[in-house]
Amino acid sequence: MQPCYNKIMKTYIVGNWKMNFTIGESSIYLHKLLKRISPIKGIQIAVAPSLIALQPLSLQLDRKKIKLCAQNCCAKDFGAYTGETAVAQLRGLVDYCIVGHSERRYVFNETDKDIRDKVSACVRNNITAILCIGETESERTFGETADVLRDQLTSGLSDIAKEDLGKIIIAYEPVWAISSVKGARVAVPDDISASIDLIRKHLKDTFGKDAENVPVLYGGSVNPSNCGAYLTIPGVNGLLIGGSSLIADQFIDIIDIAKRVK
Ligand code: PGA
Repeated sequence: MQPCYNKIMKTYIVGNWKMNFTIGESSIYLHKLLKRISPIKGIQIAVAPSLIALQPLSLQLDRKKIKLCAQNCCAKDFGAYTGETAVAQLRGLVDYCIVGHSERRYVFNETDKDIRDKVSACVRNNITAILCIGETESERTFGETADVLRDQLTSGLSDIAKEDLGKIIIAYEPVWAISSVKGARVAVPDDISASIDLIRKHLKDTFGKDAENVPVLYGGSVNPSNCGAYLTIPGVNGLLIGGSSLIADQFIDIIDIAKRVK
């Protein structure tokens, strides 16, 4: 029987711009978004621009419509860490921070410990961590998906107490479905729902009933044609969107579809 999930939670539509757009282009894009969307009850929209654009965009923002998200952070609060940006320095600029994105894990060799410390730093600084988890193609082929998801959740949240759960969002992003990965294929809802059930069960086993309120997003090659199907998967509370979020018209179409699905 299909588990029954909390239906009253907000829907999150988060655009991960990755390393794209100059400050000027980011600002023009945000201007377009702000003009074309109005605050939508039950839907939280956020964009994650490059670090250098966060401060200028924060001055342009209407937080009732859109919130800002960082793409990464340093787990330390201050000190001699050349090139890094502390979560404490992001306070007041962003409401969310992506942690443990697969590009951080596999391109920049971030370890489970790094990711755990970043999640804690976010919570400590009152910024919601969007913890990304997901299996690679070969892990899926070898039947290791459940173990990988459990391990990434356990380690990523190992310093998190029940009381901190309000500052946690999980994003399930199977690495093989991310559009920047060579040979990526688009996941169908059946590929995803077993993992969503597993994530929800693990959260509940670890934190009890309070975990029902933790939003779980899906990410990986989301576009206007498939977003409706992902949003109707039980237990999915929103989307983390890369490529399609770079095209304002597509991002706005996804927001419109989310409004209808909601
Ligand atoms: P994609 O990226 O939508 O381009 O697949 C998603 C992500 O990496 O967060």
